[in-house]
Amino acid sequence: MKKFILDAFENHYAIPQININGLIWIEGALRAAQENQSPIIIGTTDKNIPFLGGYEFIAATIKNKVKTMNITVPVIVHLDHGLSVNGCKKAVDAGYDSVMFDGSKLSIAENINLSREVAEYAHSKNVYVEGEVGAVGGNEDGMANSLKYASLQDCVSLVRGSYIDTLAPALGSVHGEYVGEPDLDFDKMKKINDILNIPLVLHGASGLSDEDVQKAINFGHAKINFNTEINLAWSSSIREFLTEHPKAFSPQEIINPSIDVIKETVTSIIKKCSSDFKSTVNS
Ligand code: 13P
Repeated sequence: MKKFILDAFENHYAIPQININGLIWIEGALRAAQENQSPIIIGTTDKNIPFLGGYEFIAATIKNKVKTMNITVPVIVHLDHGLSVNGCKKAVDAGYDSVMFDGSKLSIAENINLSREVAEYAHSKNVYVEGEVGAVGGNEDGMANSLKYASLQDCVSLVRGSYIDTLAPALGSVHGEYVGEPDLDFDKMKKINDILNIPLVLHGASGLSDEDVQKAINFGHAKINFNTEINLAWSSSIREFLTEHPKAFSPQEIINPSIDVIKETVTSIIKKCSSDFKSTVNS
């Protein structure tokens, strides 16, 4: 993860994180990454782990799919919004390449302590670590939070006190669909980037304009997370199919065409992040 995210940071593009909700998301995302020669991060929220079959099953399934689909671009398996130190450690042990500890509901002192515990464990196994300051608003897989803008001081304290590798500063983005216009604090984003000079992570990217995504990349965001945009496209394609074929009941007949919809949506995300043709890093 480290060399790929640093390459993105230094060369002003972002690696898309695509959150998955089952096998067809893995397949669609991997096909899009391979066809566009883009590195890709496959994300699973901590909340979604039981639904997806558990940490070991997920890590092994993604890695197995990479082999059987002959995927040659870099694929990183990432735990999104790890809610406990224990959960992050389990993901590391299961073979995840990268974990996020989400301390957004904690005091900054507790966030630093627990993020450091995750970082020490993960780094001992060569696993990359992301932390969060402030709170990304909205709702993701049942995990709801009120938007809280990150403070510059807390960002500096978390990064310097916990040894995390990358930071997700909440600066106005939300999970799920935006109600009203997104209002990202680009002034603070610039200050955080100037002071910390480490790769940043943008959550809640579905529904942001291409201009906002590009600005975030210019201000140090090297990993950008998408979930809702793919699920909106997927669910409307299933709805359309069932309306046109009201008698359809074969799961394969109903579900298979939606893999292409996932692939096309991920392709447009890859282009938005300018990560196409960035699969090779000279390290
Ligand atoms: P969206 O809900 O905007 O797609 O955000 C996904 C995300 O940030 C995952 O952590």
